[in-house]
Amino acid sequence: MTVNASFVSPTADAKVAHMITQFDTAGLLSTLVNGFTFWKAALALLVGAVLYDQFMYIYQKGSIVGPAMKMPFIGPFLESVNPDFRKYHAKWTSGSLSCVSVFHKFVVIASTRDMARKIFNSPSFVKPCVVDAAYKLLRPENWVFLDGKAHVDYRKGLNGLFTRQALEQYLPGQEEIYNEYYKRFVELSQVTHKGQHIPFMQEFRLLITAISCRTFVGHYCSEEAVKKIADDYYLITAALELVNFPIILPFTKSWYGKKCADMVLDEFSKCAAKAKVRMAAGGKKECILDFWVAHMIESDNYRKAVEKGENPEKPAMVIRWFSDLEISMTIFTFLFASQDATSSAATWLFQIMADRPEFLEKVRQENIEARNGDIHAEISLDALEKLPWTRAVVKETLRYRPPVIMVPYLAKKDFPVTPEYTVPKGSMVIPTTYLALHDAEAYPNPDSFEPERWITGDADQQTKNWLVFGTGPHYCLGQTYAQANLMLMIGKASMMLDWDHKVTDLSEEIKVFATIFPMDDCLLTFKKRTAA
Ligand code: HEM
Repeated sequence: MTVNASFVSPTADAKVAHMITQFDTAGLLSTLVNGFTFWKAALALLVGAVLYDQFMYIYQKGSIVGPAMKMPFIGPFLESVNPDFRKYHAKWTSGSLSCVSVFHKFVVIASTRDMARKIFNSPSFVKPCVVDAAYKLLRPENWVFLDGKAHVDYRKGLNGLFTRQALEQYLPGQEEIYNEYYKRFVELSQVTHKGQHIPFMQEFRLLITAISCRTFVGHYCSEEAVKKIADDYYLITAALELVNFPIILPFTKSWYGKKCADMVLDEFSKCAAKAKVRMAAGGKKECILDFWVAHMIESDNYRKAVEKGENPEKPAMVIRWFSDLEISMTIFTFLFASQDATSSAATWLFQIMADRPEFLEKVRQENIEARNGDIHAEISLDALEKLPWTRAVVKETLRYRPPVIMVPYLAKKDFPVTPEYTVPKGSMVIPTTYLALHDAEAYPNPDSFEPERWITGDADQQTKNWLVFGTGPHYCLGQTYAQANLMLMIGKASMMLDWDHKVTDLSEEIKVFATIFPMDDCLLTFKKRTAA
């Protein structure tokens, strides 16, 4: 046994002490003490961060389906720059709950009908997240980000803008826009492109912006402003991809999107100011803005009369006075919510009708009959909604190609979504609508377009599967309007236009650009319809 050898303390052992000195001159300790440079520290930090990121992912993933490891930090960010519907579909079918992690964000996807419904209907655990960039574009104080009672109360004040009586008043303005744009479609096809098929997806987006602007802000927005909004709106969509770079850097998609959003907010604020003047002077209500401002004035008059000690008749709902910017932010949410979803539905509707002329003919006949043979006659909301084939093709298009396939929510606290799995607080939770709408039990032959299921079948009874407009406290505020508008759109087109679709291998492939579109952007050509 050597001197000082003991089993008590190795450092008290002269031999061990010597070994440590040897080790130190060649290695770690001296490195730490003598050569601990900035770069080595940075490297150590990076390795630590990668390990932490990986550990957190595996820990949060728990028992649900997802990649075994995560690409350090970014995860599948590069894939999300170019989203692929097939990959999304594969993910949904991989399990009722699956996950990915992108940058710092852990994302849980709920794909089956019941799991999706559970997320939509759990407002005490989740709130809408939209996408990160949406807070920056729509402004964090926007009503759509309100939660709980504050959200319910604000939303109640907006219901009056979407009543049947209100929707009826928006129809003439919409008819005008369709007349104008359908002429433009013909000119574009016949004059500019000499009858050649061209991609129409972008044209539908412009049409929908014009329809939205007329419905929401009437004639308060100049034609140039509508055109600018229509031309630039895609910048907002591009900035709102599901996952985007976390900060707004100059000349990136988010930066251009924010500039465009600020321009739209500014335009709508000006419209709100003009509506306040016109409604105060007793102007006729023609658009959503008019209905809202008239309601504010009515409420204000009521309050003033009560203050004076009078006994005025109380409006059905008394609302407060809203600033021009508040109104503008809210109208912007309507544009935002409507634009991509309705453009998607419109594109598929025109494509599907061209590919299935037997249904288009039924739509045409019933629309002409409802107008007593005068294709230019206006139609009431009631009459429009009673057209069975027009309603059925719209419903079936929305089921067959649901525009909104995913609705991002945020877990406000740990969410025990199943007995086995708890979604961690702060995660994004995304219910999907597609599988519920392609469920063979609810909709036999789900991948086939069969509008009859809405006439002679029981599709209308499958309310649990009908997730096109979401469900729960945030279900789509514009759903009645959106469907009536699509019926008006296809009904008028069927009477005024003939159109042909050039079918390519990509026509039925799905491109994801916020919502979904045919991969070939829908190659169409339009002619004015002369025969009745
Ligand atoms: C085919 C067209 C449309 C589709 C497929 C669609 C679908 C949806 C979906 C899936 C949601 C989320 C629901 C949820 O979280 O439960 C939503 C929310 C919303 N939609 Fe639509 N939408 C359409 C058109 C419109 C239009 C035209 C408007 C406005 C005029 C509109 C206004 C809104 C608003 C304001 C919300 C948020 C409601 C809230 O948070 O309380 N949507 N929509």
